[in-house]
Amino acid sequence: MQLTEFVAELDALSAAATSAFDSAADAPALEAARIEYLGAKSGKLKDAQKKLGGVAKEDKPAAGKKFNEVKTAIESAFQSAQARLASGPAKKASGPLFDPTLPGKPLRIGHLHPITQTIEELKDIMGRLGFSVADGPEIEDEWHNFEALNIPADHPARDPLDNFFLSTAQVAAKGTGDRGQGTAKNPKSQIPNSKSTGPLLLRSQTSTVQIRVMEKTKPPVRVISIGRVYRPDEADKTHYPMFHQIEGLLVDRGITMAHLKSVLRMFATSYLGQDVHVRFRPSFFPFTEPSVEVDMHWNDRWIELGGAGMVDPNVLTAVGYDPEVVTGFAFGLGVERACMRRHGIEDIRFFHQNDVRFLSQF
Ligand code: PHE
Repeated sequence: MQLTEFVAELDALSAAATSAFDSAADAPALEAARIEYLGAKSGKLKDAQKKLGGVAKEDKPAAGKKFNEVKTAIESAFQSAQARLASGPAKKASGPLFDPTLPGKPLRIGHLHPITQTIEELKDIMGRLGFSVADGPEIEDEWHNFEALNIPADHPARDPLDNFFLSTAQVAAKGTGDRGQGTAKNPKSQIPNSKSTGPLLLRSQTSTVQIRVMEKTKPPVRVISIGRVYRPDEADKTHYPMFHQIEGLLVDRGITMAHLKSVLRMFATSYLGQDVHVRFRPSFFPFTEPSVEVDMHWNDRWIELGGAGMVDPNVLTAVGYDPEVVTGFAFGLGVERACMRRHGIEDIRFFHQNDVRFLSQF
């Protein structure tokens, strides 16, 4: 065999073995390549060694030297493949491991529900007008939801079909759950200074908080309360059995309807913009006298936002205030309505469907 032929064969062998070791993806593949090229009995390197015998005598030293070089190269290719596999899968990737020119992955940032955002903003606006925030329970007694608000027992607003009364008798008898309204054994115990022994209900208006605040505080009072109220309405574009109200109450000496209108005007212009008009329409609420419906005009449309009026003397008396000394105004507006008007939301049910396409717009 010619020396040149032998050398060419060895070079080809070296290249083939190196590429087989380099491309082995895992330990079994590397072992198969090792047997093929470095196998003691019939490996290809062994075959090549046998051919060394067929080389002419004067070429033997050169051929032997070449053989040893190739053997060393193949063995070291094997060792580096072994090291590569041992150091873990991350190193297997071919090509650059990190491309700094790729655009980053945007993180989805969560945020507050539009109603929560509206509540925060309304608190902020009223806070600037000097109103502090009061809270009251969502499960109420009839005293706070009706009686103290001058709503007598035979008033249509107390119709069981228009309210979510809790079946407290059953709750007390069973001492267990109350059909999804919570598992408290005695819901009354959750209501601070409950004055009524009658049935409980989910409050139908935040005006309950007027009573709770005045029972605890001497005048002057200047508070708002924002929270959920419940009415058994069929859900449609503008109704939902649960919604939010913002209640305002200001009681002091010499408070008049003019104060009410100024505060509501400032409230409206702060929330919707300077081009808002506020309109009062005569109305009736048992707990205010006179009473009005509050409309706001913005972007060529009137909307009805809620009710308001001067706190009825009977209510002031019920909480131990002297109506000869102090007067006050109160208002109750729909939070969803205000939010829908500002953002052009057409359907109140969107607030409750948890559709990210809707929620992520706020
Ligand atoms: N509570 C009334 C309602 O829910 C609104 C209101 C509040 C009216 C305060 C007058 C004063 O319709």
